[in-house]
Amino acid sequence: MMKALILAGGRGIRLKPVTDTMAKHLIPVANRPILFYVLDRIKQAGIREIGIVVSPETDDYIKQAVGNGSRWDASITYILQHKPLGIAHAVKSARGFLADSPFLLFLGDNLIQGEIRQFVDEFNTHKPDALILLKEVDNPSAFGVAELDSCGKVRCVVEKPEQPESKMALVGIYIFNSDIHNAIDRIRPSRRGELEITDAIQELLIMNKEIRSYILSGWWLDTGTGDSILVANRNIMLDCIRRDIKGNVDSESKIIGQVEIEPGAEILNSRIEGPVIIAENCHISDSFVGPFVSIGAGTTVDKSCVKDSIIMTGCNISMADELKDSIIGKGSRVLGRGESHHDISLCIGENSVKQL
Ligand code: DAU
Repeated sequence: MMKALILAGGRGIRLKPVTDTMAKHLIPVANRPILFYVLDRIKQAGIREIGIVVSPETDDYIKQAVGNGSRWDASITYILQHKPLGIAHAVKSARGFLADSPFLLFLGDNLIQGEIRQFVDEFNTHKPDALILLKEVDNPSAFGVAELDSCGKVRCVVEKPEQPESKMALVGIYIFNSDIHNAIDRIRPSRRGELEITDAIQELLIMNKEIRSYILSGWWLDTGTGDSILVANRNIMLDCIRRDIKGNVDSESKIIGQVEIEPGAEILNSRIEGPVIIAENCHISDSFVGPFVSIGAGTTVDKSCVKDSIIMTGCNISMADELKDSIIGKGSRVLGRGESHHDISLCIGENSVKQL
């Protein structure tokens, strides 16, 4: 039976200060942690035995959010990787859990559009030694890159090449059989000091193993940076938010397009332009919200204008007249003067106070 291994370790340095008090994999997009979309995809593919690699920094947060996996009808095994010594090192740390099963490796900060069932079916039908998922990108040197021959066969794979020979990036979703463990045992740390999964795949090629590739048709995002999290928030909202208004909206307010307002939320004298999701018990008054804004439970927005932003739970946004492209950690307060009239973009961690 195929297992799944999700990597949710590492330190999330590029997303500080938000990641000072939460794992980057738990940053909410459209009000749900990124990791939950990963678990959804694995569930849709019919995999029920899931290992999650965590780091000392992310361990408690991830366990608290995911629990025993019953929400995904799965059994979850947590594997602690003491140091972020590379993706292949994380696989090595999970060797006991994986045993000799084939497994789907899913980097916990990767979001894709659509299901992975066909990808899994492709592996089960052809039974290669590894199946890699590829997507054409404009900036291949930021990723692992695959060079294909004229028949589409994988010729070689290289991690973040300076002069990429191809635009085909390796998406952080792979399927391996147990040969990958032998390949990992044969590789050495890269220039960045990590055991690279890309090098292990290249080693499989050197070992004459069969590597197949599969091209992803929908969008793909590696949510390693604040900008990419906001793009993810946009993409997921475009795909998932339907008009559904359960909260109270007064007669002075206008709700336009794909807007989800959960029970107990209250909208007074405001204009909400979708896609927008407003969680339960939020209070929005005298404000403009949207498009592409997600607001976590219990947040208050008053006399403010918010666009293209992630506002987490229990925040208070007041008189911020052009908040845009922002990530606001939970329990934080943003207090404006209501007179700046130019865009302000913030990335602030949990329980912070920002006076504009
Ligand atoms: O996103 C796709 C790319 O992911 C691939 O194209 C690259 O070939 C692959 O190396 C990887 O590159 P990144 O530099 O983006 O990987 P990153 O260090 O961000 O790690 C990806 C995830 O794995 C992240 O959720 C943290 C987790 N991780 C990472 C390392 C290095 C671990 O759990 N343990 C680790 O030791």
